[in-house]
Amino acid sequence: MAAAAEKAPDVRAGPDISIIVPCYNEVGNVGPLVAALARALDGRRWEAIFVDDNSPDGTTAAVHAIARTDSRVRGLCRIGRRGLSSAVIEGALSSSAQIVAVMDGDMQHDESRLGALIDAVQSGACDIAVGSRHVEGGDNSGLANAWRHTLSDGGIKLAQMLLPVRLGDPMSGFFALRQDTFARIAPHLSGTGFKILVDLLLSSPQPLQVQEIACGFRARVAGESKLDALVMLQFVALLLDKLCRGWLPLRFVAFALVGVVGIGTNLLVMQCARALGADFPLAQGIGTVVAMIVNFQLDNNFTYRDRRLRGVRCVWGLLLFMVVCSVGALANVGVADMVYNQSRAFNEASVAGALIAVVWNYAMSSTIIWRP
Ligand code: GDD
Ligand code: MN
Repeated sequence: MAAAAEKAPDVRAGPDISIIVPCYNEVGNVGPLVAALARALDGRRWEAIFVDDNSPDGTTAAVHAIARTDSRVRGLCRIGRRGLSSAVIEGALSSSAQIVAVMDGDMQHDESRLGALIDAVQSGACDIAVGSRHVEGGDNSGLANAWRHTLSDGGIKLAQMLLPVRLGDPMSGFFALRQDTFARIAPHLSGTGFKILVDLLLSSPQPLQVQEIACGFRARVAGESKLDALVMLQFVALLLDKLCRGWLPLRFVAFALVGVVGIGTNLLVMQCARALGADFPLAQGIGTVVAMIVNFQLDNNFTYRDRRLRGVRCVWGLLLFMVVCSVGALANVGVADMVYNQSRAFNEASVAGALIAVVWNYAMSSTIIWRP
């Protein structure tokens, strides 16, 4: 009898909607965003998942402080991993709700449009509903400056060239879709950079039915944008990766891009040294060393950003990188010479040598210098 009287555990059905909020240094926006969501989603069963990359400003602590008294809020703190898109992927895959909606954590997206996005997906009218600044009634006045407008418009044009569906605002970071649709596409996602919507649309095995819903993009109140040169390069690398249908590893594409910068640096420095009176072997030597240092810095901050070397390990890494590239250079000359002797064709021989070198440098860099 006593056991029967024991109170049944307070089990309530989970949320229907998960709002995935990628965050980095958004401590000032967590409270206001939760309050705004409560107003916008009143009457619905929702949760907000704040995915924070261990921000130094205490964003995760702010989320936990609210979550202790509000079970609709939960935090996912990632350590040693950075990136908007990968944060969204981990947040969406941690949800067991029917619908996931993605929005920024800085109050720039208009939460009052969430209902329309969710209803469009729930009604089956589309696979993915996008909050768009570029349809009738939308506006992107919140973009910081003219440069951001140019950047955004340029990115839109680039993305539209590859997208299987017509979309006015593929750069939007505000959209909703079924969680099982997200989970089905997730294994194919590149997950780099900022452009998770473009990644979803280009990675989906079948073209997704898209509906654009007019949305405003407000000016940022607290904190600052994290969109930098690296994010732009990651966007180009994402498009290249999708263009190559994932055959060419994204990191190899980035490594090869950095290699091209290295060739340019080598030529430039060699010419400067010659202009300052150095003879060719010395000028080429200086050019090669400077190019190696520039490549190492770019690879450490871009290609291998998620495995970035710091402090003493960075110095060792540079020395090892120079050894690896020197062996690569030797292989380059050796193979080029061999091909030239067989074909008597300069360009083919030179390209063959360069290819061997970049593949060798990449393989060694990924396994020895920037070990997983
Ligand atoms: N977890 C995590 N990790 N979150 C991040 C990271 C990161 O490395 N970088 C940025 N975020 C979070 C920010 O904290 C913010 O909540 C959201 O992602 C958007 O970042 P912003 O830095 O504010 O981007 P933006 O305003 O310049 O650009 C946004 O709007 C554009 C237009 O819609 C982004 O959503 C872009 O993707 C979008 O194109
Ligand atoms: Mn923003």
